[in-house]
Amino acid sequence: MNATSTMLSTAISDYLTTTPQEQVHAGFLAYIATLSEVSTVAPGMAKAIVQELDDQRSNLKLIASENYCSLATQLAMGNLLTDKYAEGYAGHRFYAGCDNVDEIERYGSEQAKQLFGCAHAYLQPHSGADANLIAFWAILNERVQVPALEELGTANPAALSDEDWSTIRHKVGNQRLLGMDYYSGGHLTHGYRHNVSAQMFDSHTYSVNKETGLLDYDAIEQQAQEVKPLILLAGYSSYPRSIDCRRMREIADKVGAVFMVDMAHFAGLVAGKIFKGDVNHPQDPSRTQGRAGAMHRGIRRRG
Ligand SMILES: Cc1ncc(COP(=O)(O)O)c(C=O)c1O
Repeated sequence: MNATSTMLSTAISDYLTTTPQEQVHAGFLAYIATLSEVSTVAPGMAKAIVQELDDQRSNLKLIASENYCSLATQLAMGNLLTDKYAEGYAGHRFYAGCDNVDEIERYGSEQAKQLFGCAHAYLQPHSGADANLIAFWAILNERVQVPALEELGTANPAALSDEDWSTIRHKVGNQRLLGMDYYSGGHLTHGYRHNVSAQMFDSHTYSVNKETGLLDYDAIEQQAQEVKPLILLAGYSSYPRSIDCRRMREIADKVGAVFMVDMAHFAGLVAGKIFKGDVNHPQDPSRTQGRAGAMHRGIRRRG
């Protein structure tokens, strides 16, 4: 036994011997027992986790991308499910033996639908950057690839000649994205050149008004008319104001674009019904942020 695991196992037995049975807190016990187990293999890691807990409890963290989730969520995320492989959708997997994961995904998806009042929710334990990629690919697929395949009289890409497939790939890879510029508060994944999104799309950006620091919807409309994007993207890393989603959707409709919202930073306000920007208007809201929960990522809704 190393010093950390000795300290943790002593803490567990002290806790159990000094706490009346009816007062034993299962969550605390699970937490400390997990750390004790980690410490037998990687004491430094267990120690760092304890230090992190102390750091989080002693200091005010103002990192916009961080959240604090419940102990129940932490425990649901850190268990044997990490071993699981479940490609596909609940009920439509590429492998057998996914019944339990199906149940988990369905449960999470139902919770998300209720919380955000939407018809569809696709729930995966990934990060916000991945969620945006998934939403982008879903739109590219629906709006570009599927119609292109239909024109060629098939739904099966594998049935195409190399030449036809190459034509489709060029079409898919040459669509325009219009999102907020990184330096105005937009996110890397919204078409910034250092991110894969700028390689996927011919990406264009709008800025906030230099005087007011606010979105200028008339200017965005004019730019959208010029760019004619496939996707008009709203939702930002640093824009502490409400977004007029109704207006953005109108702009998207005028230019034939799909309106997508990355509500990473205000999903909690939407769930709490405080956000007044009317998120019923996006065709593809993707709630990316929020480590607060197993409900961790992309949510799509069709308008
Ligand atoms: C608006 C926005 N979208 C997406 C992301 C990416 O989220 P993640 O860090 O979970 O990949 C961020 C990160 O802060 C963000 O601010």
